Amino acid sequence: MALVDIQVPDIGDFDEVGVIELLVKPGDIIKVEQSLITVESDKASMEIPSSHAGQVKELRVQVGDKVKEGSVLLTLEVAGAAGAAEPATPTAAAAAPVAAPASAPASPPTAAAPAGATPPAIPAQQPGPAMAGLPHASPSVRKFARELGVPIAQVKGTGPKGRITLDDVQAFTRQVMSGAMQTQAQAARAPAAGSAAGLDLLPWPKIDFAKFGPVERKELGRIKKISGANLHRNWVLIPHVTNHDDADITELEAFRVQFNKENDKSGIKVTMLAFMIRATVAALRKFPEFNASIDGEQLVLKNYFHIGFAADTPNGLMVPVIRDADQKGIVQISQEMAELAKKARDGKLAPAEMSGAGFSISSLGGIGGRYFTPIINAPEVAIMGVCKSRLEPQWDGKQFVPRLMLPLSLSWDHRVIDGAAAARFNLYFASLLADMRRIMM
Ligand code: COA
Repeated sequence: MALVDIQVPDIGDFDEVGVIELLVKPGDIIKVEQSLITVESDKASMEIPSSHAGQVKELRVQVGDKVKEGSVLLTLEVAGAAGAAEPATPTAAAAAPVAAPASAPASPPTAAAPAGATPPAIPAQQPGPAMAGLPHASPSVRKFARELGVPIAQVKGTGPKGRITLDDVQAFTRQVMSGAMQTQAQAARAPAAGSAAGLDLLPWPKIDFAKFGPVERKELGRIKKISGANLHRNWVLIPHVTNHDDADITELEAFRVQFNKENDKSGIKVTMLAFMIRATVAALRKFPEFNASIDGEQLVLKNYFHIGFAADTPNGLMVPVIRDADQKGIVQISQEMAELAKKARDGKLAPAEMSGAGFSISSLGGIGGRYFTPIINAPEVAIMGVCKSRLEPQWDGKQFVPRLMLPLSLSWDHRVIDGAAAARFNLYFASLLADMRRIMM
């Protein structure tokens, strides 16, 4: 028997992450890859699994602690000589990363030992959700990418004949994470940049609210801080306009309800949002400038159809992405959405599951409201907001008839899109929801 200290592996460009959940306790017998703790980074929450099997002797962190690469999570009693149990081979390094996509060092710094012992310190492992894609990479590299939730098809290979190496996967994950950090940093700088650009704003009011009555203070969660900073930047830097319209979904809703009734044993509920995602794909095909990004003086038009959808979570707003929505049916989209929304709520979305959208939908349909102004999720150039449908009298040319109307609010970037295009987009989108047969045309 030997004691090993399990450490936080390389967590990319993050200095620190907060411990939000302890998943094991002293005395627990744990297996390799069993989750030890949940940490929350700026982008997502994730579990750090163990690199070893053994018995937990001592927990070295508590909920609320900040940890960083090399911090000791716990001391484990393992069978055999621990130092030899996990040699720092490339395979071990591949299997030993990270909180968010980032990688663990092969030889982490030695951590402080528990009283009376000097156990070797070993980084924990961090598998992420499995992603598809098998191009030019060894099985261990693919496994590594899968564990991190890295879409390997998007990784640029630098090995012989473009082979994807472990370093390439690590570089990809660092890039994703540093992108998130830069976004945060830029957002934090936005007010100053705004002032420099001529926004001669008053300083934010500093008020002692306690003068007026009892108050309490609460730290904003990390996800809220990040999404808030992003929303602020997007709101300030993008000239937003929002067009409101309505879609008649009377027949579609009747079909959806009927379909769910007929398939209630499947366990998959088809939602209105899934139809909207398919309608979005058709509308993006017709109006490609809505599936685009500004890059300097160029417009990048996307030939893929990855659609983000806003999900309300206890930690704040997150936008998971349905990839290649053009290649998926309504049932599959519904199923993926339910899975991604659950992951978002559980704080388990991998960064790769939140990146790459070309257009987003924010649906408040399950909650209520009439119309609103969704903020564009940069670098996208438009976002569709949807509120709760309701029965309304509609004039059919002879009389008023009750129809189920879905309120639409399309926000668009006026640098790329103009009002006429936005009005046409809404009209077309509404016509697809009114009669989904049009999608096939
Ligand atoms: N009109 C009327 N009812 C609607 C509706 C609409 N536009 N959209 C959904 N509903 C109904 C659903 O049919 C469902 O009813 P049921 O349980 O009787 O079948 C109920 O509302 C709940 O739907 P929900 O489970 O939320 O599914 P969804 O696919 O509509 O939405 C999410 C999934 C993840 C998007 C949603 O749960 C969510 O988080 N929404 C909030 C997004 C947000 O915060 N946006 C604001 C960003 S600023």
